Amino acid sequence: MQVHVFDNPAQVAQAAALLVASQVLRKPDSVLGLATGSSPIPTYGELIRLYRAGVLDFSRVRTFNLDEYCRLPSDHPCSYHFFMARELFDHVNIPAENTRLPDGNAENLLWEAARYDAAIAASGGIDVQLLGIGHNAHVGFNEPGDQLVYGAHVSDLTPSTIQANRRFFDREEDVPRQAVTVGIGAIMNARCVLLLATGQDKAQAVYESIRGEMSPRVPASMLQAHANVLFLLDREAAELL
Ligand code: GLP
Repeated sequence: MQVHVFDNPAQVAQAAALLVASQVLRKPDSVLGLATGSSPIPTYGELIRLYRAGVLDFSRVRTFNLDEYCRLPSDHPCSYHFFMARELFDHVNIPAENTRLPDGNAENLLWEAARYDAAIAASGGIDVQLLGIGHNAHVGFNEPGDQLVYGAHVSDLTPSTIQANRRFFDREEDVPRQAVTVGIGAIMNARCVLLLATGQDKAQAVYESIRGEMSPRVPASMLQAHANVLFLLDREAAELL
């Protein structure tokens, strides 16, 4: 595990974008695992900048997102489909058919989860996985519990996650209670994982994930067992280390 602490979130984003960019330059048909939430937005901004500068070509890149809410229309402004279009896909030359997210509106969500894992496997696996971290150390929507789930699945969101997501929705009752998420298998099988965390509100989750015991109660702590993981942190997120 490598832990890099930067002065500010902009440097975290630059570092993450450099690592993703070098992957795409080395392997133009790279498979990227992408994340939503506020943490990766500046990184996507940097990648768009590199694309516009003619440095990066996304025409052969393939992407798989971590998760999507259940039963939220994909054109809803809070859906992760909408988020990814707004923050990245609409601004680079990635073909729409190369971008995948779980379909949270599939009639049978269990099949959708199985299909999603199969599609990741068929792609040859994820080269670089971007991750944020929840306040309770969830990754994707793998919430703390007695055990972690290996495969993609439907996750019941915890009250703390529902509360954290509340800021994006008009009313509390509109915040989805479930999501389809990749499991720990997809994350642990990624050849490289970049976990981005910024801000003091992430310091406890970061501390427990890096310094605590590996436990399903702290989902990101499983990354201690990953052979190629980089934590990219700003000073505030790293303050308890
Ligand atoms: C959501 C996403 C996670 C993300 C987390 C933290 O729960 N499913 O992938 O890491 O939010 O979001 P933020 O970066 O906005 O704090």
